[in-house]
Amino acid sequence: MLYLYYGLVMNEIVLSKNQFLELKNLVYQTSGINLHEGKKELLKSKLAKRMRLTRKNFDQYLAYLASNEQEVVEFIDTVTTNHSYFFRENNSIAYMVQHFQNIAAKKNKVFKIWCAACSTGDEPYSIAIQLLETSLDFSILATDISHSVLATAVRGIYRIDKTRNIPNTMLRRYFQQGTGKYQGHVKIKKQVQAHISFQRFNLITDTPPDHGFDAVICRNVMIYFDLPTSETVVNKLYGAVAPKGFFAIGNAESLMNLTHKFSSIPKVPSLYIK
Ligand SMILES: C[S@@+](CC[C@H](N)C(=O)[O-])C[C@H]1O[C@@H](n2cnc3c(N)ncnc32)[C@H](O)[C@@H]1O
Repeated sequence: MLYLYYGLVMNEIVLSKNQFLELKNLVYQTSGINLHEGKKELLKSKLAKRMRLTRKNFDQYLAYLASNEQEVVEFIDTVTTNHSYFFRENNSIAYMVQHFQNIAAKKNKVFKIWCAACSTGDEPYSIAIQLLETSLDFSILATDISHSVLATAVRGIYRIDKTRNIPNTMLRRYFQQGTGKYQGHVKIKKQVQAHISFQRFNLITDTPPDHGFDAVICRNVMIYFDLPTSETVVNKLYGAVAPKGFFAIGNAESLMNLTHKFSSIPKVPSLYIK
């Protein structure tokens, strides 16, 4: 019965120009993500999926979406990518860890780091295990708009292929190998998790939960934003960075056409200092 309903839905979705614009606005206002016309077909299949899961017809689903921010977030989850992996674009992270070691020698300090679009946790866990290799004290706040990626992050179980960039010694030290039904998976150890607090945070609508961070890492999310939105987000995050603190973006991203007060760091692409 459900299958027939789904089949019917799939065939019947005709997204008018106005309906597409309505959806586009909703997604933009909630998340800053800018959907272009090229995403229309993808959007239709994702709509069908969410309609099936929420058991609503098209009109009911659009009304539901318009009145339910949580559903917009679920919907965004299906139209963007949460793709991430361990030790992704690690040059800027390695640079910061080295710098923290240099300045920690001068004073006792607990380093505060914020991963502001942490997806499934690969990024904050990668930073944590590199800091655990030093004798530094640190805490990491890891946030994302999506509840489902945060649930995965808290669970801390990953397919082994996501860990291929982790040096072997660290893989052995900070992960447990899965057995039985978890064969081919690893689980991050509790000693790493103890340094990280996962919370929901929407870069567009929320106010930074804290300030004075020694590093704010916001990578591979602004790629979905238009320039004015990116500029607003960068300047909002600027306020959360401590003087002389770092700001890291993704390698495919740039602050070039934005007005901001960060200074770039020579020879370390995608890394800025306040
Ligand atoms: C491609 S992942 C990047 C993950 C990680 N930073 C990395 O570079 O591997 C992008 C993440 O941004 C999140 N995201 C999208 N819009 C957001 C928003 N408005 N506020 C916070 N997070 C958002 C998505 O849920 C997704 O998990």
